[in-house]
Amino acid sequence: MTSFAPLKPQVHHPPLKIADDTWLIQQMQEAAIGPLWLYLHSLVIKGPEPIVVDTGTPCNREQWLADVFSIVDPGDVRWIFLSHDDVDHAGNLAEVMEACPNAKLVCTWFMTERHANCFNFPLERCRWINDGESWRAGDRTLTAITPPLFDSPVTRGLYDDRTGVYWAVDTFATPLPGPMNDISELDGQAWKEGLEMFNCMNSPWFKLLDLDKFERHVDRVQNLDISVIAACHSPVIGSSHMTQAFDMIRRIPHLEPPPQPQQADLDELMHCVATGKQYIWQPGGNGA
Ligand SMILES: [Fe+2]
Ligand SMILES: [Fe+2]
Repeated sequence: MTSFAPLKPQVHHPPLKIADDTWLIQQMQEAAIGPLWLYLHSLVIKGPEPIVVDTGTPCNREQWLADVFSIVDPGDVRWIFLSHDDVDHAGNLAEVMEACPNAKLVCTWFMTERHANCFNFPLERCRWINDGESWRAGDRTLTAITPPLFDSPVTRGLYDDRTGVYWAVDTFATPLPGPMNDISELDGQAWKEGLEMFNCMNSPWFKLLDLDKFERHVDRVQNLDISVIAACHSPVIGSSHMTQAFDMIRRIPHLEPPPQPQQADLDELMHCVATGKQYIWQPGGNGA
């Protein structure tokens, strides 16, 4: 009988400290169409009122919980911020809510309605924080700010005024040739091509944008006093690469939708799997 249980990651990428009191919880997922990997990060912010930002993936559940609770005691967690309800962000929501009985869930009304089909929201433990709203978490103020690009109507990023870390959720997603702690380790052309492709794919409405309105929307995020961009699907973007990162996002509406693999590519992929060859997708076909 075939099992559809997701495959556990083969390699553990340990938590990475990216700012005072702030750690990335890391996981990498290999792409089916080539020797490329994508990060699936979440975040832990320590302090008087510790915060878990997004909840990892089901396939990495045990390791994700171990990584988070190697940094903060479950009983000390006071806030669980859910950026949106995609499975790579909400994958261990029930488990972390159970493990952290003193934590409130920072979500929104619409998230509650959308996600009720697979999670029984304890409304008495919820705090609804919409785009532009803030709350105080001990020694810091956290503000929900919609990132430049997103793939769910409920997506909010998170800005921490104490460290200047901005959680950009799905914006800046970039496939990688392997693990790296900082985007400065990636070849500039590979970053441009990967970021353009993934952000176009993940926000397919980019061709509908009013260019002036989008510029102002990006300004709103870029004008935050950001020290480090942390994102679910990118290595850390520090100050040396921040302008370049936002510039690439601003070019997205000027691009054309990228080609996508077709059935012929899947046929070629299956042939490679059967013959033990490495498959590398190339736009227009003839992989392998
Ligand atoms: Fe998403
Ligand atoms: Fe995501």
